[in-house]
Amino acid sequence: MQDKSPGLKVSRKNGEKIRKALVEMGAFDRTRKICSDESHVYLPILDIDEIEAAKIRSIGQFELAAINFQLEEHVLCPEDFLGFRPSFEVVGDIAMVEDSDAERVAAALMSTSKSIKTVIAPISDVEGEFRTRRFRHVAGEARTVTLHKEHGLRYRVDLEGAYFTPRLGTERLRIAGLVSPDDVVLDMFAGVGPFALLLAKKGADVIAMDKNPVAVKYLRENALLNKVNNIMILEGDAADLALRYENLADHVIMNLPHSASAFLLPAIRAAKPDGIIHYYCIAPEDDLYGDEARIRRAAEEMNAGVEVLYKEIVRSYAPHRHNVVIDFRVKKHDLILY
Ligand SMILES: C[S@@+](CC[C@H](N)C(=O)[O-])C[C@H]1O[C@@H](n2cnc3c(N)ncnc32)[C@H](O)[C@@H]1O
Repeated sequence: MQDKSPGLKVSRKNGEKIRKALVEMGAFDRTRKICSDESHVYLPILDIDEIEAAKIRSIGQFELAAINFQLEEHVLCPEDFLGFRPSFEVVGDIAMVEDSDAERVAAALMSTSKSIKTVIAPISDVEGEFRTRRFRHVAGEARTVTLHKEHGLRYRVDLEGAYFTPRLGTERLRIAGLVSPDDVVLDMFAGVGPFALLLAKKGADVIAMDKNPVAVKYLRENALLNKVNNIMILEGDAADLALRYENLADHVIMNLPHSASAFLLPAIRAAKPDGIIHYYCIAPEDDLYGDEARIRRAAEEMNAGVEVLYKEIVRSYAPHRHNVVIDFRVKKHDLILY
């Protein structure tokens, strides 16, 4: 008889969303088969920590269970070649691997996955105003441009020219669940469009801006690629551009985690009375929501109030540092305009 292994019991309704989240966080056990009964789906997992469990709970309820999952027929995986599970991230048909041991990991990935055509390794951190990274080519076709699919949309991405990470996929879905088709959304730091286009596809009227000309080029291309018309795309500094949209937005997306606080005033001005701002930042684990004080100070400067609606860790960023989100409603009284 086969051994029991850990799994999550989730409702059928939430099964696919939670499976995707587990894959995204590297916690889905691909060696075992999903099973189900009339009302529930059982998802095989490797291991999840408390942060990951909280993230899954924000999508839907689950119970931890020990299940007799059937084994998947064994297909060769990189571990078979390497003897360890390599850390890598896939965007479209490009795998990004760590620089150390890159050649060996690339060989293992390319011989076990037909869908990976290129392997690259970062030679810099995500840096500068445009939050880009430099890479070196390791194996396969020498390019950094690819086509990535997420939530039914396609994104042309240049990994070196503009910021993109698939790790925010679940968070983007959460925001999409909060936005209504008749809402106006302002995406201040839109990149190649993964928030903006998803929300526009839902029917919202979206104003999307970015300062990086390469990001804007791909954002325009991706709007065409996905046949999205209800979006206005602007190139420039959000600190100036957002001021054109005073009191207009039901939702403002502020996904510039290292310096979002510097843009709070234009964001608050662009929000409608009772509009919601989705604010992302990087925070130390011993003061996860310290930016709440900055938010309240910025609002007070404009004679506005703040009601925090939701705060959560979105993903781990570095040892003892996390990418967190704070959603807050802007309560406007008599605004002081500068
Ligand atoms: C962390 S990325 C997020 C991109 C996108 N929202 C996503 O989820 O992939 C931040 C983006 O803000 C842009 N940016 C940085 N400073 C800016 C500014 N002052 N005004 C407008 N965009 C800016 C960068 O070029 C980058 O594309």
